Amino acid sequence: MSLRSPARRRLAFAVAALCAAAAVFQVVAADAPRWRERKDLGAIPLDDAAARHAARQFLEGRQTFRHDTFGSEAFWGGALRLHEALATVTPRTALAVGLKVDADALAGLTGPIDLDDPAVTAELLRRDAVIGVKGFFEGGRLASVGIQCALCHSTVDDRVAPGIGRRRDGWANRDLDVGAIINLAPTVAPFADLLGVDEATVRAVLASWGPGRFDATLTLDGKAFRPDGKTAAVLIPPAFGLAGVNLHTWTGWGGVSHWNALVANVEMHGQGTFLDARLDDAARFPVAARARLGHTRNTPDRVTPKLPALHAYQLALPAPGPPPGSFDAAAAARGRTLFEGRAQCGTCHVPPLYTEPGWNVHLPAEIGIDAFQAERSPDRRYRTSPLKGLWSHAKGGFYHDGRFATLGAVVDHYDAHLGLGLTPAEKEDLVQFLKSL
Ligand code: HEC
Ligand code: HEC
Repeated sequence: MSLRSPARRRLAFAVAALCAAAAVFQVVAADAPRWRERKDLGAIPLDDAAARHAARQFLEGRQTFRHDTFGSEAFWGGALRLHEALATVTPRTALAVGLKVDADALAGLTGPIDLDDPAVTAELLRRDAVIGVKGFFEGGRLASVGIQCALCHSTVDDRVAPGIGRRRDGWANRDLDVGAIINLAPTVAPFADLLGVDEATVRAVLASWGPGRFDATLTLDGKAFRPDGKTAAVLIPPAFGLAGVNLHTWTGWGGVSHWNALVANVEMHGQGTFLDARLDDAARFPVAARARLGHTRNTPDRVTPKLPALHAYQLALPAPGPPPGSFDAAAAARGRTLFEGRAQCGTCHVPPLYTEPGWNVHLPAEIGIDAFQAERSPDRRYRTSPLKGLWSHAKGGFYHDGRFATLGAVVDHYDAHLGLGLTPAEKEDLVQFLKSL
């Protein structure tokens, strides 16, 4: 029988069709979770105005979070002339101070990247590949620089090299030495003028922050050091997993949008509107009261129109799950029982938010720590940290100032403060549970 015989041809066709069907089945099976997700999304009718609005806000908010400078180049480039320093910085130095490079923005770049060539830094800035820092070019020259939210609240997955990879929006950049970066600027006179000190003092304060820290309250109350002489700068928190959480920042300044408006105007020096009469209290916020920072207005307002989508995007960012094999599941299960029961953690860290559904702040004495940072905030309290994705920001330690280097040290603290009488094995179970979140 030759292939030309009709029976043989039918057989060949049937076999080919079966193979194709099997291949499609394999692809679908391998893709099963995503397939199911798509079907769920497909259940939203295309004419559902709310769903389309949510999708549009997500995309707009992501654009703002990653790429918007809010006009802050007038400050970082115009006033501090930070771009003059960045033009001479090698990519190696940029990575060493914790700046991250978006590998997706490198597409089409040919040849190896020379990490010792400042011209490469300029090319990275031109491509908006340096996360959180936007270069403005005139002709071929770097003429100014502005900053973006992603600077402190994004990292990368290091898939190309340490510090170079895909964006991870919302992750706290605990490598970033904000103080060292600002100190690169040829002048810090605008900070000196605001704080009423000399430039050398400003530079000493910036140098004292160290990686993963920033002091948003410095330009409000002028306090740079704690009574024990250590820096008053706090750790950069993640900006993921915030949906459902009432008050934000370590000390509960307000909702996400309150803080977004404060940061965009008062910290990033974007050009918008920020109103908060609590900052008129000259005894507590002398710098802010003098400069009337709680009554910031700029025309045109380049921040307020961005707030709704920026808020929606942040609430959409999920906390990352723990890497496979990073914790002991049986111990974590025992730890969960302790967390929600005898160890009393769940009285404040209510699952699955892991903060209070309600007014989520506490007096310093309730958690057994000093009042310094709480006293720098309007409500004089500490906010119950939402605990999901803790593993992703272990660098720099835990609590607002990183006073506990490990989760074990956090558990030891609560054991002593709350008089829990946990055994070493129970403490380890709690740690494994915290790692599993
Ligand atoms: C220079 C670094 C830096 C930049 C830039 C920055 N942040 Fe932050 N962010 C911080 C630090 C530090 C805190 C903690 C402040 C505190 O508690 O005193 C914080 C806190 C937050 C929080 C509260 C998180 C929580 O757990 O409640 C949110 C939300 C946030 N930032 C969003 C943003 C957005 C949106 C932008 C851009 C408009 C931005 N940040 C820009 C450093 C930064
Ligand atoms: C009285 C309320 C309360 C109780 C009870 C409590 N916590 Fe906390 N927790 C807080 C507050 C408030 C903070 C923020 C402290 C700060 O910012 O310095 C916090 C912070 C933390 C952090 C650090 C989070 C970070 O991002 O650095 C961990 C981990 C933690 N708690 C775990 C626990 C465990 C485990 C227990 C039980 C043994 C527990 N907590 C009991 C209120 C509480």
